[in-house]
Amino acid sequence: MDAADEAVRIAACVRAAELARLRPHAGLDRFRTPEQQLAALVDIAADPKGCVVVATAGAPVVAGAPATSGETLVGYVAFHPPTEIESWGADRTGELVELGAIEVTPAFRGHRIAPRLLEAGFADGRFDGTVVFATLYVWHYDLQASGMTDLAYRRMLENLYRSVAMESFATSDEEVRSSAANALMARIGTRAPERVVAEFHRLRMGTHGPSRAPW
Ligand SMILES: CC(C)(COP(=O)(O)OP(=O)(O)OC[C@H]1O[C@@H](n2cnc3c(N)ncnc32)[C@H](O)[C@@H]1OP(=O)(O)O)[C@@H](O)C(=O)NCCC(=O)NCCS
Repeated sequence: MDAADEAVRIAACVRAAELARLRPHAGLDRFRTPEQQLAALVDIAADPKGCVVVATAGAPVVAGAPATSGETLVGYVAFHPPTEIESWGADRTGELVELGAIEVTPAFRGHRIAPRLLEAGFADGRFDGTVVFATLYVWHYDLQASGMTDLAYRRMLENLYRSVAMESFATSDEEVRSSAANALMARIGTRAPERVVAEFHRLRMGTHGPSRAPW
């Protein structure tokens, strides 16, 4: 299956049960095995504060279909409360949102699926009332498949995230600062309360020890 001959559908904040019926594309292995990643996404979708946006290809899910549908998950972006094992988990407002991972399976890359996933995630003012941040870590970059240098890859991701009005921010987070190819990006929603914005700034400039999150 290739993007060139497959129509790709995008759906935002899909229910956990719907997600669990998808078949993860074999190439979705940047962060975990495809099966483990699907299970992690199902957990996020089951969280009332989580939102998983999916790109699917193949036959759509039909009512009464068998447990596994004919649809294949070819890309996703996941939004969730800040990862607890990272210093961002110290969010005192409970309202910050982490854009935890974005991935498109290699066979479908270069077809603007990632911008569509992000656009659908931020649609309808969904995150206008909060701050959404993303930590870009070089150890997640697919340098091999892309053929890019680490800095070019960071620039590519910055351009991608800027398409949904996310901006780069300085941070004292040691993990982000451990490589010039890492970055912190965030979108301060137009309706974000001052206390949430202040918490984001406190965390980005606070004291951060190294920690290695799964994504
Ligand atoms: C980053 C990623 C989600 C982009 O997805 P995508 O749907 O290919 O996005 P786009 O189609 O907008 O392409 C983005 C860039 O990828 C590059 N690209 C284009 N075709 C490509 C291909 N076939 N293979 C690899 N990279 C390609 C281009 O530089 C393009 O930038 P440009 O439009 O300015 O030329 C995808 O590359 C990916 O899953 N990478 C691995 C996971 C990752 O790095 N996640 C981010 C860190 S959490």
